Amino acid sequence: MTTRPVDIDWDSLAERARSAAKRAYVPYSAFQVGAAAVVDDGRYIDGCNVENASYGLTLCAECSLVSDLYKTGGGRLLAVVVVAGDGQPVMPCGRCRQLIWEHGGPSCLINADGTVRSMSEILPGAFDVSSMEGRTRIED
Ligand code: THU
Repeated sequence: MTTRPVDIDWDSLAERARSAAKRAYVPYSAFQVGAAAVVDDGRYIDGCNVENASYGLTLCAECSLVSDLYKTGGGRLLAVVVVAGDGQPVMPCGRCRQLIWEHGGPSCLINADGTVRSMSEILPGAFDVSSMEGRTRIED
């Protein structure tokens, strides 16, 4: 594994994710989710899920996390923890794996099931900007 500029304090991250989960707006599923991350400048960020009466418009906790990333200065995600209201880890949905990949890439670490994994383990064969590079258009 490559050397990282900051040590990952997994316990602090999990605590932060649990605090975020308590702020969730979940009148429909009652399933609170909190996400927390360390950014490559050492900053901590977090987010919670925010549901909507039009269910498909629900914002997952990871969406709020990415919003917090940019609101507080941008950068790259180094490590992410996602938990439910019971404090136990939650595996991100497919859309949120893609979201985390966009802002953390394949080496971003994630604890979403009690084990630290890299994003490349939970989103193998990901589509990203490199998938579009050098591709040509079909001509008429
Ligand atoms: N949820 C998240 O916040 N993140 C995920 O990765 C999976 C699902 C939320 C969305 C919804 O508010 C609730 O969990 C039930 O699906």
